[in-house]
Amino acid sequence: MTQDELKALVGQAALKYVVAGEIVGVGTGSTVNKFIDALAAMKDRIPGAVSSSNASTERLEALGIRVFDANEVGEIAVYIDGADEIDGGGCMIKGGGAALTREKIVAAQSRRFVCIADESKQVQVLGKFPVPVEVIPMATQRVIRQFAAMGGSARVRLKEGRPLVTDNGQHILDVTGLKIADPLVFESEVSQWPGVVTVGVFAFQKAHVCLLGTDAGVETLVF
Ligand code: 5RP
Repeated sequence: MTQDELKALVGQAALKYVVAGEIVGVGTGSTVNKFIDALAAMKDRIPGAVSSSNASTERLEALGIRVFDANEVGEIAVYIDGADEIDGGGCMIKGGGAALTREKIVAAQSRRFVCIADESKQVQVLGKFPVPVEVIPMATQRVIRQFAAMGGSARVRLKEGRPLVTDNGQHILDVTGLKIADPLVFESEVSQWPGVVTVGVFAFQKAHVCLLGTDAGVETLVF
């Protein structure tokens, strides 16, 4: 199967985790796009969704799925999102699509995080994929130096030759050269650096379940 077919497979499989009558939390990315397309088939059985990005909001609304502001709703039953890497404990690197801040917010508001990913995303130790970090632009150079001091190399993510601007009006650093042996410690430390909005390591908001697309079908990992 192609990677695209594996993404479609897990996008479809995630439907069974959506609770009828309840708002669903929706992530961002190409795998989530498959989920959103599949969700259209059950749109009459849910009040709507809380979205983690402008891109997902547009796609949901185009399919006739109502999007609620996170502040309008209480606890969300389930959050469905992809990942750039997921380790054996359900900790993830996220933010390849620059939506990490809102993804972490919706994940934190949800009882259960169901990660959907193709098997290329499974790793022993997080850190091969560059870690996305959303930063306030005036702190960029200092945060780059803080990563250098811990052995990482951080670069500003560009779009059409200029710093990419997130849905929150901030910039993204992509950090290479890190091996994140203890995701909880890493996330707590970097989150405290002044100017860091969100670090794309999801250890506090880790996945409870991962639906992994493999050539043999969907493997369900429970953490
Ligand atoms: C967006 C994300 C995505 O979930 C992650 O980048 C995976 O994307 P894809 O499903 O396109 O591989 O964190 O910010």
